[in-house]
Parts: sequence; C-alpha cells; structure tokens
Amino acid sequence: MIVCSCNIISKRDIENTIIELLKDDPWRLIVPGVVYQTMSARGKCCGCFPGVVDIIVETTQKFHEEQQTPSADIINFVTKLKEHHQACETARMLAKHRQKMARKTA
Ligand code: FES
Repeated sequence: MIVCSCNIISKRDIENTIIELLKDDPWRLIVPGVVYQTMSARGKCCGCFPGVVDIIVETTQKFHEEQQTPSADIINFVTKLKEHHQACETARMLAKHRQKMARKTA
C-alpha cells in the first residue's frame, strides 16, 4: 500500500526503515523526517506525515514486543512517542494556520 504518493513510498518500505533504525538504537525517537532522510527522500506536501506517525508508533510497539521488552517500558516509551508526535502535529498545524493568515493579510 502506497503511503506517500509524492515519493511513491509503501507502508512496507516505511516499516522496514523504522525497524532498521530501531535495530541501531531501540530507544531512539523516530519522526517522519528521520524515516524519509534514511530513505533518501523528503517530505514534499507532508500530507502523509500523520499516517507515517501512526506507522512509527505501531511498528515501534511491535518491535519492542518482539524483543520482549517489559511491557511497562513499552507503554512509557510509546506514550512519550505519541506525546512528541502530537506536539509536532500541533506545531505544524499552527504554522500552517499562521501562513494562511499571513496570505490573507498580504
Ligand atoms: S504524500 Fe508524502 S510528501 Fe506528499
């Protein structure tokens, strides 16, 4: 299934990249920009990023379950991951809103 139509990137490609990143450092904070940079791609319209965030959370959780990481550690990490992604999404929406307002006043 194609997740990013700008770069023609599939869900499988994204999952594999996330797993490779987690093998290097299981506790690193992965954001869409890191995934795309690792894949030598970059967000163009960034419309796929919310879906990529969901894939990051899902894949990270599954990775740690397979590694038999204690569930309390997984829950803490995934909660922090979701909070970070939510903060990023809020910042992105605010920036988009500010750009829209600036265009209206110009
Ligand atoms: S859909 Fe992924 S950058 Fe546009």
